[in-house]
Amino acid sequence: MKTSRKGEKQMPTIRFMPMGIEVPAREGEKTIAQVAARLGIGINQPCGGFGTCGKCRVLVSGASSSLTEQEERMLTPGDIESGYRLACRCPVEDGLTVFFGITPAEGRGRGPVLTRQVRYGGTREPLVTSISFDLDIPSVRDKVSSFSEIAASAMGLSGDAIPIGLMDPLQRIFSGNKPGKAVISNRRLVALEAGDSFKPYGLATDVGTTSLVLWLVDLEEGSAVDALSDLNPQVRFGADVLTRMSHITKKKDGLFELRDSLLSALNRMIGCIARRNGISPGQICAVTVAGNTCMEHIFAGVEPSSIGKSPFIPPYRAFPRLDAVVAGLEINPLAEVIMIPNISGYVGGDITAGIEASGMTKGSGVTLFVDIGTNSEIVLGNRDFLISCSAAAGPAFEGARISCGMRAAMGAIERVSVVDGRLSLGVIGGTEPAGICGSGIIDLVSEMLRQGLVDPSGKMSKGPFSDIDIHICVDERGMRHLVLAGSEDGSESNRLVFTQKDVREVQLAKGAIATGIQALLEMKGLQVDDLCRVVVGGAFGNFLNPVNAISIGVLPMVPIEKIEFMGNTSIIGAFHALVSREDHAFMEKLPGRVEYLELSTFEDFQARFLANLRLGPVLSRKE
Ligand code: FES
Repeated sequence: MKTSRKGEKQMPTIRFMPMGIEVPAREGEKTIAQVAARLGIGINQPCGGFGTCGKCRVLVSGASSSLTEQEERMLTPGDIESGYRLACRCPVEDGLTVFFGITPAEGRGRGPVLTRQVRYGGTREPLVTSISFDLDIPSVRDKVSSFSEIAASAMGLSGDAIPIGLMDPLQRIFSGNKPGKAVISNRRLVALEAGDSFKPYGLATDVGTTSLVLWLVDLEEGSAVDALSDLNPQVRFGADVLTRMSHITKKKDGLFELRDSLLSALNRMIGCIARRNGISPGQICAVTVAGNTCMEHIFAGVEPSSIGKSPFIPPYRAFPRLDAVVAGLEINPLAEVIMIPNISGYVGGDITAGIEASGMTKGSGVTLFVDIGTNSEIVLGNRDFLISCSAAAGPAFEGARISCGMRAAMGAIERVSVVDGRLSLGVIGGTEPAGICGSGIIDLVSEMLRQGLVDPSGKMSKGPFSDIDIHICVDERGMRHLVLAGSEDGSESNRLVFTQKDVREVQLAKGAIATGIQALLEMKGLQVDDLCRVVVGGAFGNFLNPVNAISIGVLPMVPIEKIEFMGNTSIIGAFHALVSREDHAFMEKLPGRVEYLELSTFEDFQARFLANLRLGPVLSRKE
């Protein structure tokens, strides 16, 4: 650290590219990640910044500090030669330049996920309605007591339904003697404008542990008109809800920090989606929020730590409605924010929304609903019963804890097959591969099993293999790995490898999911053959190869025509709640109907889990 001529300490200045931001570090900020966090630049930190996951690597120039022990361990010789450092470990120093968007391990969102409007198929009756009205201007002879009562009666509301914040526009409408348009939510006025041009919008929101998704909804048409997704910036506090709850418990203002980073990201996304659709954020008059139980509590600013310890009871299942101004969303301040109710501490509002979206309660046929996300939740049922559990599968299928894992974004390998003895990769956006996402991981492990590159116990085989040109290499630490991209000698910085440890992560994830499915079927005395449908939700749902998912045991062995991929069922349910009172009322009552099984209490859970680590179909049909 330098000292000025007056003897003051001068903090080192760092540049962030391509944003071109140049800022001095503040007292107490020791690493690149700490400065980036203050600026709201999201850096993926699944290990919570302990230098053990290697996911926060960034390209750096101008660093003279030596590599830390963790950097020596987590960076490859190719990375080091190219100038990569770990943002959570690399000390700040004057003249350092950090390049974002060039790190291969993390892409930004795919951008809009809606290529066309999504219309609601049922009977539309939005939570928010708009009406045009004419006000009769009172004369001195009329025995009227107030503007608010005249307006309320013209709108069919009670006299106290006009908020103070809307009295100014109401008086202007009276003095202009013009018709107006009112937006009403839950028998309360939320927006008022002279004329007839005001168009109310809603936001369906999926607050995931890893990703945030918004759908902008035209409430008059009942259709989603645009969508936006981004990384949840809380990933810098850890990849899963347990790490985030531990941050809240250990740090005095931990809850504030997590909530603040979430709200900053959501408000940035709201500004962006409003701008590109030519509307004002003030036109957004209702919001539905679906997330796991922990995320919903953090969003509402409620301490969630009780979810993390036995008996795992959340402070809320159903949250009271909030005004946007209280929720901290930069939209119409009177807009109601409605959170989809949770089922239990580990089966959240995203699953309530998913059950509704899947339509699994509509008939007598039994559906298995599996939502594969940062954790995996499983629900079995039909119109007569519903039973759920949460499988601690970890975030492997979202790319976390996998050496070159990333979420389904530009540059992610989403499909893998072996063609003419060589690996063939399908990359999102057709770019150079930057990492591998969940569907690619399942394809890859399935192909490795098929080709004998890995055995059912999960051990990578050294070969040699006579009929394929794919090799298992061993690195300087003795770790077996398969090179997906780049050269086998490790000389290229964009080299992507899938290691023995990655195979183990996949085994843990699939073992947990398979055990959850097995437990729910047994609890209800059912077999795989009794399933009419298997609905798969989750960020990669649309791209998953069902044959490969069955072949390694992620999904049960059912005829593939019974498997349906619905993609993000959480956002679909949140959308339905906005445009249909009936669907919203259904979701409000759902938690009371769903039985919850705590998997760790299930008979022989540990033994079954260990058996299900084996790669291969584990839940087979009756012979
Ligand atoms: S190594 Fe830096 S966040 Fe994990």
